[in-house]
Amino acid sequence: MSQLPTFQNAGRPLDRRTLLQAGAAASAAVMLPAVLRGQDSPPPGKKLSILILGGTGFLGPAIVRAAQARGHSLTLFNRGKTRTELFPDVPRLVGDRDPDKAEGLKALAEGKWDVCFDDCGYYPRMVSASAELLKERVGHYVYVSSISAYAKNEKEGADESEPVATMEDPTVESMGEGYANYGPLKALCEQASEHAFPGRCAVIRPGYIVGPEDPTDRYTYWPVRATRGGEMLAPGAASDPIQVIDVRDLGEWMVRVAEQKTVGVFNACGPAKKLSMGEVIEACRAAAAPESASLKPVWVDHEFLAKQPGVDLPIWAPYAGESRGFHTWSNARAVKAGLTFRSIAVTTKDTLTWHLSRPAERQAKLRAGLSAEKEAELLKLFRA
Ligand SMILES: NC(=O)c1ccc[n+]([C@@H]2O[C@H](COP(=O)([O-])OP(=O)(O)OC[C@H]3O[C@@H](n4cnc5c(N)ncnc54)[C@H](OP(=O)(O)O)[C@@H]3O)[C@@H](O)[C@H]2O)c1
Repeated sequence: MSQLPTFQNAGRPLDRRTLLQAGAAASAAVMLPAVLRGQDSPPPGKKLSILILGGTGFLGPAIVRAAQARGHSLTLFNRGKTRTELFPDVPRLVGDRDPDKAEGLKALAEGKWDVCFDDCGYYPRMVSASAELLKERVGHYVYVSSISAYAKNEKEGADESEPVATMEDPTVESMGEGYANYGPLKALCEQASEHAFPGRCAVIRPGYIVGPEDPTDRYTYWPVRATRGGEMLAPGAASDPIQVIDVRDLGEWMVRVAEQKTVGVFNACGPAKKLSMGEVIEACRAAAAPESASLKPVWVDHEFLAKQPGVDLPIWAPYAGESRGFHTWSNARAVKAGLTFRSIAVTTKDTLTWHLSRPAERQAKLRAGLSAEKEAELLKLFRA
């Protein structure tokens, strides 16, 4: 069997086969409560006490900064391993999501918060442990899931009523080959959150989260590639849809979700209107000017790419077959609940500016995308 092109799942790597597996396993829709926005909204200016499970990776810092800008008070709970230099003035509880590891959840045994953002929950046993422990002492639980929680990605413009992925053994605690278990596990974590906080839970399903400080380099690859100019392999067609959400837009909206005590399930995909791969590449050209002056996209169809081994074209997914709807999820409900978007031009420019501020060795070693050699080889093959 020819190797399928890897495209990146929201949050974790995923290949087309993984989507197929998730689709085949799906059998039941999980109904979560409808949007009940605005109930018991705090008066303007009420300061919240916010607990973040996680908080120091990529999305976490964006939530922290947005909450600080609104004057809320924060507590972080994590192991004290990731980006320990961040937020020295924010109280930190040290522990592990896994109650069976080290000090586990002991640091969460006391304390009360208006809201808890669960930003690093990957296994239902662990999400359940913290949610159940906190349910009498936390008012509102916001679980960060993923668009990968859905069973299928074929349908265009689908909304939150689509069935979520399921797995045969929900106690499995590994991501599996090609991260096949990531989406079904996220769906189970959603259910664990909702179970502990019925009517008090928001489930956020982001698509690709992008922007400055993204450790994955998935979106970063594109403006960085544009700085090299010349013929650039552009996947699919210029009109292929792309959905990304700037981490800062997501962080700011999540704070609004907390302030308004919003509950329900939300696709957090951007931007507001359809964005095409061609527009993304144009945003990259603009961000990378003047180095990008000679940039010439060469559009390479997905059928050709599907036959090539080792192709990493991050963010993009074939606008066909099982992944036709992958970049077309409806964000109408989240927009109605206050999600806003900065322009792709700003996201792209800021991402490149941040990248260029990284240490030289990190700039030289992107974690995603094609090497110059691989790109040249593919273009040669394509022409042949
Ligand atoms: N990136 C994407 O494109 C994308 C798309 C869709 C959904 N998502 C979801 O978005 C969420 C955000 O991820 P993020 O990495 O940006 O979150 P984050 O909150 O910024 O960073 C992860 C945090 O989790 C902590 N952590 C990790 N393992 C832990 C453990 N066992 N016990 C306690 N703390 C632990 C880390 O600190 P320590 O290491 O110090 O413990 C770190 O503070 C995830 O749920 C992901 O599934 C991401």
